Amino acid sequence: MQIPKDLIKEAAKKLQSVKNKSEFYNLRSHYLGKKSFVQNAFKELKNLDGKEKIRIAKSLNLLREELTDFFESVDLKVLAVKEEPYIDVTLPVNANIGKKHPISVVMDLILDYFHNLNYSSYFGNEIESDYYNFEALNFPQNHPARQMHDTFYLNKSLNDKCLLRTHTSNTQIHMMLNKSAPIYMLSPGRVYRCDHDMTHLPMFTQVEGLAVDQNISFSDLKGTIIGFIDYFFNQSVDVRFRPSYFPFTEPSAEVDIRFGKKGWLEILGCGMVHPNVLRNCNIDARKYRGFAFGVGVERLAMLYYGVEDIREFYASNSEFLNQI
Ligand code: DAH
Repeated sequence: MQIPKDLIKEAAKKLQSVKNKSEFYNLRSHYLGKKSFVQNAFKELKNLDGKEKIRIAKSLNLLREELTDFFESVDLKVLAVKEEPYIDVTLPVNANIGKKHPISVVMDLILDYFHNLNYSSYFGNEIESDYYNFEALNFPQNHPARQMHDTFYLNKSLNDKCLLRTHTSNTQIHMMLNKSAPIYMLSPGRVYRCDHDMTHLPMFTQVEGLAVDQNISFSDLKGTIIGFIDYFFNQSVDVRFRPSYFPFTEPSAEVDIRFGKKGWLEILGCGMVHPNVLRNCNIDARKYRGFAFGVGVERLAMLYYGVEDIREFYASNSEFLNQI
């Protein structure tokens, strides 16, 4: 019996034109399968005799081993890559990689400024009782100022009306009741009002600030707010404090900034904490005073990014978000 010499070479040559795994398995069975030369030759051994049988059997064993090793050495992963459309892994990545939402960017800017002044943040409750959202903030029942807040009421709980907080000022009350003065706190978070148009959303974001200490005055409030606005817009901005009304502050002001061609734009509310609010929180109003402010984050973001329609921020339109 003749044993072909170059079987491995031949297999190696054929392997080069193999394009996928199934072609590979076909090739392997051609050389090692039941109908392969090697297997047939083993069957033929019985027709040989004596020394010849031993010699051929040895050679066949060797050949089978070599072929097996050869096929085992083929890296199937390379074949799998051949099977897939060609991907050049060295090309630069052209995927949309996620990034911070503009509202988070603006929120972080606000928080950074006040954290550097040693304010601490508390998130507070989004589901709140009427007491913390209104009553303790000096909005008595049936007070007309409640109408400024288009409140979403939830089911009436046993003792107290439940609602979605209309502002983050509720956290002031929790903090003043839980901590002793001096207090320097921020409350960032979501608030809810029944309102929806180009400049209002039923859910939006506010940051409340509160400072309670001895000898706090309106000029501390002014200095803090002006410092923040200059930091936020990274330039010296014209700022105006316009008298206003909030039940929980007295005196109260709204703050406007001069914004290019748009003229004066309101950006936040603030004032000196009303003594009734301090008293509701068991803080000695003769010893301590406080100032507070509330900023609408979407409103700041609209100015910061030049966005006209507040709804853009929540439309999940990746083109808009990427452009920003
Ligand atoms: N809570 C007010 C609102 O949502 C904003 C505000 C105004 C907060 C004046 C304050 C403040 O702390 O002093 O409209």
